[in-house]
Amino acid sequence: MMPRMDAPERDPGQGSQSVVPGHLDLSTPSVARMYDYYLGGKDNLPVDRECAEEVIRKTPHVRLMARSNRDFLGRAVRFLAGECGITQFLDIETGLPTQSNVHQVAQEINPRARVVYVDNDPLVLAHARALLADNPNTHAMAGDLREPLHILGDPHVRGVLIFGEPVAVLLCAVLHFIRDSEDPYGIVDTFIRAMAPGSYLLVSHAEQRRALMPARAAYDRANAPAVLRTLVEIASFFYGLRLVEPGVVYVPLWRPDGPVYTDDLRVPVLGGIGRKP
Ligand SMILES: C[S@@+](CC[C@H](N)C(=O)[O-])C[C@H]1O[C@@H](n2cnc3c(N)ncnc32)[C@H](O)[C@@H]1O
Repeated sequence: MMPRMDAPERDPGQGSQSVVPGHLDLSTPSVARMYDYYLGGKDNLPVDRECAEEVIRKTPHVRLMARSNRDFLGRAVRFLAGECGITQFLDIETGLPTQSNVHQVAQEINPRARVVYVDNDPLVLAHARALLADNPNTHAMAGDLREPLHILGDPHVRGVLIFGEPVAVLLCAVLHFIRDSEDPYGIVDTFIRAMAPGSYLLVSHAEQRRALMPARAAYDRANAPAVLRTLVEIASFFYGLRLVEPGVVYVPLWRPDGPVYTDDLRVPVLGGIGRKP
């Protein structure tokens, strides 16, 4: 049966811990550069490739997970900028891919769309800043998802985004790097509270499945852990929001552009979009 779920009730959590974005560490595998490797990118180092290859050996369809997640992000941003008329995006966890980035997809639909990228990986930020150098409607900031008030209060973020108007907050493939002890629900709730009515939250997240357990250990060596969650736990991030159709589903099944194949159902990444009433 396909997982599909409306946002269940839960108690909203509180605040977050203070975390300073790290320096460029070339000896520790970086989850951003490993993701780049899965997607066939060139912005990765031997230490990342070695760790990513271990994950691939243990979870052969991790590349398909990365590609499906990236495709979901593209479809979702087109939906938000197009059907929903969203003109401002807060993309927390930029990632390294240099094609079909959020600002490119959104600005293709609305050239005046404004985007703030946040990431805690210095290499991601260097790339983002180079890519955005001549784009006045975008901004890339060093920030950590575990410090939401720092992100929301940043003067550059406030200079680009108007929180009194609808905004889309994108948490695509990042919450599975946040431990339960770091209060992921409280973090998400802080963003939801800051969003104006009519705003949207996007979440995608690796699903807790036995097949992914062996790969999880490889991430213990990386700069962030892999924290797998169940469908109910992932749907709970949308507490207080109305899920747009088709709810929280395997990402290839979220408003697909074309036919969905059996292989797509092996992709243990769940995603959805919720609207703040
Ligand atoms: C798997 S990539 C996802 C990139 C993009 N959102 C996508 O879905 O294609 C995860 C990104 O999250 C970033 N990241 C991980 N933990 C983070 C944190 N605590 N705060 C900010 N960014 C974080 C990594 O540096 C990496 O760029």
